[in-house]
Amino acid sequence: MAHASTLVGLQALPVQVEVDIARGLPAFDLVGLPEASVRESRMRVRSALEQVGLPLPTRRVTVNLAPADVRKYGAGFDLAIAMATLAASRECPEDSLRDWLLVGELSLTGALRPVRGVLAKVLCAKQQGMRGAIVPAENAAEAAVVSGLEVRAATSLADVVAFFQGTFVLPTAERVRDTRIDLEQLDLGDVRGQHAARRALEISAAGDHNVLLMGPPGGGKTLLARTMPGILPPLSFDESVEVTSIYSVAGMLPAGVSLVERRPYRHPHHTASTVGIVGGGDPPRPGEIALAHRGVLFLDEFPEFTREALEALREPLEEGSVTIVRSRVRTTFPARFTLVAAMNPCPCGYQGDPSDRCECSDERIRKYRARVSGPLLDRIDLCVHLPGTSAMVYSEAPDGPPSSEVRARVIEARERQLRRPQNQNEPNGRLQPKALRAIAALSADAKGLLSAAAERMGLSARALTRVLRVARTIADLEGEESVLTAHVAEAIGYRSFSGE
Ligand SMILES: Nc1ncnc2c1ncn2[C@@H]1O[C@H](COP(=O)(O)OP(=O)(O)OP(=O)(O)O)[C@@H](O)[C@H]1O
Ligand SMILES: [Mg+2]
Repeated sequence: MAHASTLVGLQALPVQVEVDIARGLPAFDLVGLPEASVRESRMRVRSALEQVGLPLPTRRVTVNLAPADVRKYGAGFDLAIAMATLAASRECPEDSLRDWLLVGELSLTGALRPVRGVLAKVLCAKQQGMRGAIVPAENAAEAAVVSGLEVRAATSLADVVAFFQGTFVLPTAERVRDTRIDLEQLDLGDVRGQHAARRALEISAAGDHNVLLMGPPGGGKTLLARTMPGILPPLSFDESVEVTSIYSVAGMLPAGVSLVERRPYRHPHHTASTVGIVGGGDPPRPGEIALAHRGVLFLDEFPEFTREALEALREPLEEGSVTIVRSRVRTTFPARFTLVAAMNPCPCGYQGDPSDRCECSDERIRKYRARVSGPLLDRIDLCVHLPGTSAMVYSEAPDGPPSSEVRARVIEARERQLRRPQNQNEPNGRLQPKALRAIAALSADAKGLLSAAAERMGLSARALTRVLRVARTIADLEGEESVLTAHVAEAIGYRSFSGE
């Protein structure tokens, strides 16, 4: 018997590989609801065993993957199947296999290949109290993040066999720091003007609030959105593990990277499919929104995304997760992302421009804006109308602070939030109404202002909650314990989508 595991969403579930060798015509069967890819592992295991000089016995070999009611995907069972087979034919001591999780796909020549979701699998082995895990060398950095059990890296079946026979010591997996640098990153210090938009991005980064940048072509919407990675606060260790699990399951963790250490920044094109954005497939894979978990999802040309994709954002924007139902199996992926969206105010792009060159009819403008539905807009906390960059503004030198300065303020404001017990380790953008009432109590003045605005602007209960969350973050950026009238006033100002 050997231990393997399978993925269900982001979770790994234990799978036992049992092998029975009986008299009869030589055969090699796999049972226990294996998917097509698991069946292919028969061929790989047979060939790999021949390569290490330990061919399958000429008897009836039956491999059972238990429990039978768990769907099993992927090629990650090969190593466990090969080792369980060797133990059953007494080529390797069965006892020593009992405490180890075995992960990896085999090539026909017996090399060990990387698989998806290794972090989750090793975490599962730890929860099960196993002594250790053997993983493909290319997944070693990722597996090494889990402490409290022995994680060893292997490059071939031959080495794993020698390890269990006691003639070879597999190296311990080592953690590696992510030293990749992002060359694409832009600095806020290079942006001219656009103070309202900079301010909104700073509030967004500090408290995790969704932003919509609206303005004429060439004003710097895309440019501004691309400065976001440079002002986001760092990931905590727990957040890093969450994000790494998602990339690992998606098969997108670069080889040799232990942990994703920067907040994700995803910017899918508007032609992306709904499945690509939301996730899906069989087995279900994370989409862009899960890949943006704990980071930013930038949707440029917002109204150009398909209606279906935009509407599918509603649930995750509220819940912070997305549930995919496929052949009666529900898979949930976390998706706590900050939405940054950009759009023109009308089809030609120049509505409201002082040049008066916009010729879009009211009807065309209405239709264009309606592509972004009311319920979706309701989930956007900060809407900024960018003026076009006139020649004058453009000739000025860049005048705002650099990203490093803004980031320092963001970090300070975020730390304030996380120190408050009511925040329960989440930024203000995730505060529930009850906690919010406790930490954003308003003066009579501020209350009056808010209710007048609610009536005038027809704000929903959700919108009011969002205004209060933003006001809380503005106060935190100023280092203010209480939310003041000025903070509420500024927060209300960001809820005007029409621009009037
Ligand atoms: N405020 C600004 N400061 C500095 N450069 C700017 C600014 N606005 C625009 N630019 C320059 O103009 C280019 C185009 O800007 P950008 O692509 O961000 O505009 P946009 O608002 O996204 O336009 P569109 O609506 O056409 O997508 C930028 O790459 C940048 O070089
Ligand atoms: Mg643009």
